[in-house]
Amino acid sequence: MQDRLVALVTGANQGIGLQIAKDLAAQGFTVLVGSRNLERGEAAAKQVGPDARAIQLDVTDENSIAATKRIRSELGRLDVLVNNAAISNTTKLSGQSVTEYAKTVRPSNASLDEMRAVWDTNVFGVIAVTQAMLPLLREAPAARIVNVSSSSGSLTMNSDPANPHRAMFGPVYPASKTALNAVTLAMAIELESEAIKVNAVSPGFTRTNLNNYQGTETVEEGAREAVRVALLGPDGPTGTFSNTSGVIPW
Ligand SMILES: NC(=O)c1ccc[n+]([C@@H]2O[C@H](COP(=O)([O-])OP(=O)(O)OC[C@H]3O[C@@H](n4cnc5c(N)ncnc54)[C@H](OP(=O)(O)O)[C@@H]3O)[C@@H](O)[C@H]2O)c1
Repeated sequence: MQDRLVALVTGANQGIGLQIAKDLAAQGFTVLVGSRNLERGEAAAKQVGPDARAIQLDVTDENSIAATKRIRSELGRLDVLVNNAAISNTTKLSGQSVTEYAKTVRPSNASLDEMRAVWDTNVFGVIAVTQAMLPLLREAPAARIVNVSSSSGSLTMNSDPANPHRAMFGPVYPASKTALNAVTLAMAIELESEAIKVNAVSPGFTRTNLNNYQGTETVEEGAREAVRVALLGPDGPTGTFSNTSGVIPW
């Protein structure tokens, strides 16, 4: 088993995940750069640093998840899992603004196939990858799981009529993050007695492929809270949902 701490970041070939990988590498981790396309992962790993390595990982593909067993034989440990991979839709926004797109994915007109595809990645993918990684995480002295969620999934915030963003709350992407929040809390409760901390974070509206680069924050800003909770010490919290300004209501 190697001495350096090991982190796996899913969907780390671009966007916020790539920045989280870079930041964890700067903190001394050996970073496994998860990417559903190995070549894109390898190109990203080069940017992350000399000790980073790409790992082919499609979070919706059980064979791809099973192949990550080689983390045990190659590195012998896993200390941090960042469930970052997600999709906002299955079609390109093709010039539509995020607001225009939101009108096509309301409860009255959302495609169930679209909803299943998004939840498959954003919710079931997180559970599948976490279940596969738990045996190694349980052997780590202080494992951390970070689920990259979104404040757009906050039921409390979307219940507030004064929230200008609540028209965007729909069953496809936003509710997939609500479900991810529920899963995060369930994981935190189950793993509390094992001192594995599980927290959800919201990056903020970040300029990435996910929103056709319409976001307003940089990837450095978007990655910050995920990295902070990945590095929590023994006295840090578990079962929280937060951004760089503090706790977000579920
Ligand atoms: N950007 C924002 O404003 C914002 C706001 C709130 C929350 N978030 C969250 O932040 C996280 C990162 O998003 P981002 O903005 O950085 O988006 P992004 O640039 O589109 O990156 C998403 C990453 O997930 C990967 N991915 C998608 N489906 C996958 C699958 N089945 N298996 C493995 N990887 C998969 C993508 O791979 P490919 O390159 O192969 O497509 C890509 O690497 C997501 O959880 C997102 O929901 C983002």
